[in-house]
Amino acid sequence: MVGKEALNTQYWQELQDKSALAGITLDSSISPADFRIYGDRLAQRQIEMFQRYGQYPLSQSTVIDLGCGLGRVSLPFSRVFASVTAIDINRRILDAGRTYCADATNIVFIENDGATIPLPSSSVEYCYCGGVLQHIKVLSVILDYFREGLRILKPGGLLNYSIQTWMDDIVSGNNIGKRITANDLNKVLSEFDCEALALIEDPKDPVPHLNVVILKKSDEFLASTVQAQLRDTLLVRQDVRTGIWEDLPSYQKFARLWAGPRKNVTFWS
Ligand SMILES: C[S@@+](CC[C@H](N)C(=O)[O-])C[C@H]1O[C@@H](n2cnc3c(N)ncnc32)[C@H](O)[C@@H]1O
Repeated sequence: MVGKEALNTQYWQELQDKSALAGITLDSSISPADFRIYGDRLAQRQIEMFQRYGQYPLSQSTVIDLGCGLGRVSLPFSRVFASVTAIDINRRILDAGRTYCADATNIVFIENDGATIPLPSSSVEYCYCGGVLQHIKVLSVILDYFREGLRILKPGGLLNYSIQTWMDDIVSGNNIGKRITANDLNKVLSEFDCEALALIEDPKDPVPHLNVVILKKSDEFLASTVQAQLRDTLLVRQDVRTGIWEDLPSYQKFARLWAGPRKNVTFWS
């Protein structure tokens, strides 16, 4: 069992103490309007992925938002999913999230231990995690979150996690998590009856990310018999983060931060 200290709880708390919005975007000058618009558009991209790859209708499904923060994605999810379970390690950000999402009646906020998903097996249709795993410094926790997601999904359910793919053990900094590779993930996937459907990559994003999209198999929703391994033939190139915030003032700061050559992808090595 990994203690919360190792999971950077204090780091997230300190960020949030500066500003609830900064606790999510790492940008203390972002305006509430930018924050909301960015969240809406980010959620829309995820909703499109669920519609494209998922097997269940959104309006009859429960979605998990793992590492939900203030709920900038949970809130727009709540407009199209039957219900949203928003989970985070940080109790105080969850309190702020309840306020941010006060208009929605179908979101439940749950504090977790930073490593497990406190829900029964085979109980939800979709499991989403965005902008979280790249900050976790303990590889076993990152991998266990994939196991936990696959455990709680109903057969036919879909997992969609974003990961950064350039990280290197030598990079230091509080907000940088442990490097993750395709090999690491493939070991996890081989433990489940599941199929990797897509690795969605945004070629214009200066920060290399992948959305890893995995289907939990079922008799009803028979997936192909191909093994569940991640391979580069699953790469789908489409806009994930570009096109959703370049018109927002907060983007200028981001662009300056990430100016320069694109990071080398280390995921396949
Ligand atoms: C950069 S924010 C992203 C929030 C949200 N997903 C979004 O896109 O708006 C990262 C969030 O992950 C949470 N978090 C960090 N480590 C976690 C862990 N091990 N388990 C659950 N939540 C975690 C933090 O408390 C924070 O709210």
